[in-house]
Amino acid sequence: MTVLGLSGALTHDPSAALYIDGRLVAAAEEERFVRDKHAKNRMPYEAAKFCLQFAGIKPADVDAVAIPFAPIGLGGKARWHYAKRYWYAPDRSLDAILTGNRRFHRYRKRIEWCLVQLGFDLAKIEIVPVEHHLAHAASAYHCSGFQEKTAILGIDGKGEYATTFFGYGENGVIHKIKEFYDPDSLGGLYGALTEFLGFEMLDGEYKVMGMAPYGDPHKYDFSRLAKFENGELVINTDYANVIGLRRYKEQGKGFYFSPKLVQWLGPKRVGDIADDPYIHYAASMQKLFEDVSLQMLDYYLGDILRETGRLAFAGGGALNVKLNQKIIARPEVKELFVQPAASDAGTAVGAAAYVSVARGVPVEKMEHVYLGPSYSNEDVIAACARHPARPQWRRIDDVPVEVAKILAAGNPVAWFHGRMEFGPRALGGRSILGCPSVPGVADRINAQIKFRERWRPFCPSMLDTVGPQMLGSDHPAPFMTFTFEVAPGWKERVPEVVHEDGTSRAQALQREHNPRYYDLMAELEKLTGNGVVLNTSLNRRGEPMICSPTDALNMFYGSDLEYLVMEDVLVTKYLRELV
Ligand SMILES: [Fe+2]
Repeated sequence: MTVLGLSGALTHDPSAALYIDGRLVAAAEEERFVRDKHAKNRMPYEAAKFCLQFAGIKPADVDAVAIPFAPIGLGGKARWHYAKRYWYAPDRSLDAILTGNRRFHRYRKRIEWCLVQLGFDLAKIEIVPVEHHLAHAASAYHCSGFQEKTAILGIDGKGEYATTFFGYGENGVIHKIKEFYDPDSLGGLYGALTEFLGFEMLDGEYKVMGMAPYGDPHKYDFSRLAKFENGELVINTDYANVIGLRRYKEQGKGFYFSPKLVQWLGPKRVGDIADDPYIHYAASMQKLFEDVSLQMLDYYLGDILRETGRLAFAGGGALNVKLNQKIIARPEVKELFVQPAASDAGTAVGAAAYVSVARGVPVEKMEHVYLGPSYSNEDVIAACARHPARPQWRRIDDVPVEVAKILAAGNPVAWFHGRMEFGPRALGGRSILGCPSVPGVADRINAQIKFRERWRPFCPSMLDTVGPQMLGSDHPAPFMTFTFEVAPGWKERVPEVVHEDGTSRAQALQREHNPRYYDLMAELEKLTGNGVVLNTSLNRRGEPMICSPTDALNMFYGSDLEYLVMEDVLVTKYLRELV
């Protein structure tokens, strides 16, 4: 059974994923190939081409194409809810009733066009629509490997109409318990406040979360923005999740919050400084998000969690690592699985997994995210030979040993190894690394390449043996989807990867998933006493993560980084290093 999943219905984050006989063989985001972050308004053409080529199969070998977007009937509540809640914009309200699947039909046409470009015969290939939130749910539950009855939570901006999903998985089947519909979207509200705080929706939510610990969540009461009562979520659309004339506008651009929000909180934030009162707004928004999410979780999934303790979570809201920390801390939660590509890129995996399972082929647990392209030493050397900067390079024999020495001396290193990661996190395939016990290394990375807002933290990767000591928890943490309170003693040992509030968003790596990266951390442990490395994604600010050696060289020579290691090849900017 070969199923190709293609996402991109919501005009951002198109991606492709390929399941063959229950194995996730390849997955990648379009943005990495076309070098355009979030690849807005594109279809996953390059990503799908890569998946097929990697697997060595032709379009005719694919049994079904799964897409994470489906027609929504008038029989359910979704379109009526939308029409009622958007009464103030009668044209949109009526559209939901009369032509409520227009978006689906437009998307399907674009997918068909994309398939034709890839060489598919539309008369032969079956395209299977999977509801957006069902695809998120499948990307969490089917990939979790959980055998017990599992509670499933989905929180995002919106799919077709649904914004929030509660359900459970049992014996490989997903059951829906409840959904909320647009505009009643907690993810959408977070996005609207993200815009108000001067960041881009679907991109800046991490920044709001990073800013939040600097503020006081009790200084401003945000409870008027969202309420969860009698099992229903209601967003106050006087302030946020607004369309049409209710939108606040600046230079012709409309935002998802209203002028009324600006009257209440003051002007929209500009610039890179985390200052008063905006840090408090970030703190209040984060608190509201956590409080309401936990209330909803309790209400709809509390019984299942008390029964088996298993929770699978996806949707953009699942990337809120602070919420995840609170979920894990609940006594009834034994294990939380968060789909590593929790935002819409992951729906390609979810839709494909859903269709595979529905056709009788269960899918394996998603153990790692190394699902993209890889490159050989010969590819790397050829890229160096072609590059106009005429890179100085040499082959090194023992990469973990040599790179650990460079790191321990306080240098940042661009690290390119194996298959590219799927999802937003660099996890040792395309990373910039630093030694977290060297004071000032985070500042050096910022000065050389990242230019990140100074209040945004860097994160650690660590050996699985170090995880329980440093994080005080043996909960699995393979994907940097959770923060943990850093144990006493460790804050002083690796200060460069501890956030303002004493937490770290950590990856605890098992050797089998990335032996070379593991060995590097083991070498660093020998040199510094800590099997921990600072890890941030390999890219310049505003760019997608690096995919190929040529991308890496372009980035390297467009930055002040001094060391780039690609497979066994070390590129440096200084001849003295080559002696
Ligand atoms: Fe989504």
